[in-house]
Amino acid sequence: MQPARNNTAENQPPRHIAIIMDGNGRWAQARNLPRVAGHQRGAAAVRRVVRACRELGVQYLTLYAFSSENWKRPPGEVDDLMGLLRLYMRKELSDLNKHNVRVRFIGERTRLAEDIIALIDEAEALTRANTGLTLIIALNYGGQSEIVSACRAIARDVQAGRLKPEDIDESVFAAHLQTGGIPDPDMILRTSGEQRLSNFLLWQAAYAEFVFVDTLWPDFSRRNLEEAICEFRRRERRYGARPDE
Ligand code: IPE
Ligand code: IPE
Ligand code: MG
Repeated sequence: MQPARNNTAENQPPRHIAIIMDGNGRWAQARNLPRVAGHQRGAAAVRRVVRACRELGVQYLTLYAFSSENWKRPPGEVDDLMGLLRLYMRKELSDLNKHNVRVRFIGERTRLAEDIIALIDEAEALTRANTGLTLIIALNYGGQSEIVSACRAIARDVQAGRLKPEDIDESVFAAHLQTGGIPDPDMILRTSGEQRLSNFLLWQAAYAEFVFVDTLWPDFSRRNLEEAICEFRRRERRYGARPDE
């Protein structure tokens, strides 16, 4: 008998795709180019993938743009990455809005430049009422610190008498994360051959299907995305239940 397939209806893409966009540096290195060239080509891959997700009817796309650990990189590279984010937001925001994309950011605002915070606010405010693809950009994001912040917020609610300890359950906890209200990712994809989470969506990844591809992010195409979705569809998701249930 055929094994039960992924419960996603045939031909439906995953509802929420999350991507660890990795390999920009190696892409540049292989061409004897500065790392920034890899990041620039990485931004072009972001455009391709956002467009493909829109057209395929994906509801949520989360992109890991800058981790809370990426501050460990040389200041010049951090500046290049922030500069590219500025450029991306300035160039793409009106187009994203025109295509009914809702933009959201997750991550800490501390350490981000004032003008980047202003761009985040502008993007979120402009696209708030849009009903198409939700594009979530993880910027200065770390899963462990997100969980710690949620614990602090819950502790304050308990201290203030708004919440009883015995009422804290998974859904209360999830609602205190920055991704509150966003369904967990169905598929987490990482490019460049690395097979780790690097502090991405730790809580939310509980039942995600992982797809790892060797393609470096700047080379990642719509076709690569479609192949990853095909791989996802071949998976059988059980959530701990028996396969025939
Ligand atoms: C991903 O590419 C971009 C960010 C982490 C911001 P990398 O810069 O990590 O590229 P590699 O892993 O060094 O090839
Ligand atoms: C993860 O990639 C972060 C982003 C893609 C933004 P890294 O390249 O920073 O991760 P590590 O250092 O290889 O784990
Ligand atoms: Mg990397």
